[in-house]
Amino acid sequence: MSATELPARHAEPPARHAELMDGVYRWQRHIYDLTRKYYLLGRDRLIAGLDVPAGGTVLELGCGTGRNIVLAARRYPDARFFGLDISTEMLETASAAMAREGLSGRVALARGDATDFDAEALFGLATFDRIFVSYSLSMIPGWEKTVSAALAALSPNGSLHVVDFGQQEALPGWFRTLLRGWLRKFHVEPRESLRDVLESETAKVGASLRFRTLYRGYAWLAVVGQRS
Ligand SMILES: C[S@@+](CC[C@H](N)C(=O)[O-])C[C@H]1O[C@@H](n2cnc3c(N)ncnc32)[C@H](O)[C@@H]1O
Repeated sequence: MSATELPARHAEPPARHAELMDGVYRWQRHIYDLTRKYYLLGRDRLIAGLDVPAGGTVLELGCGTGRNIVLAARRYPDARFFGLDISTEMLETASAAMAREGLSGRVALARGDATDFDAEALFGLATFDRIFVSYSLSMIPGWEKTVSAALAALSPNGSLHVVDFGQQEALPGWFRTLLRGWLRKFHVEPRESLRDVLESETAKVGASLRFRTLYRGYAWLAVVGQRS
């Protein structure tokens, strides 16, 4: 199924942000996986930590080219996967990747806004065993709502996994300045309050939060799960 034929059973995503993302990725998507492997660090660690239960369901919010879903689908061969993205361009690439990998029967993709989505309407499922957000919160306006929407869409024993840019807290100042300038060109804004927001949203649902700093603050990795 091509991205232009993807299900439209959802509220229309905000047009200006969708256009912006399509503009960013129209050409970038062709070199995205090759180039991002050098600086979107921690994604494989997130996938390894998903620990999907047998026959489980996994949703990625802001799935981009589908790179993470392909790797996760190989690692958890009996799980079903769902990918949501606001960019038709990215979904076009993701859809082709699923077909190439023989995963189209096990992966459903849909266009939508990660801050306000109706999973039941998009995927026929209201909740998921695992939800993850990889380097997308830093590109989503109103990203805090993505955190609350994801927690609301978790199954009773589900977990939410997040990896994104940290604040480069233990890295040299010049590196931080260069990185921030580079990221701004792609409309990426590392979320300084990520930990605080995850803590307060986690507390609201009575879950537990594990928050880790990777590579001297280059990236942050968090897991929200059931309190044990
Ligand atoms: C940096 S890419 C990350 C892609 C993938 N998760 C990865 O780790 O390679 C960010 C993705 O978030 C998507 N995105 C941005 N804002 C969004 C929103 N409001 N709702 C859904 N997806 C969004 C972009 O279209 C893009 O595909």
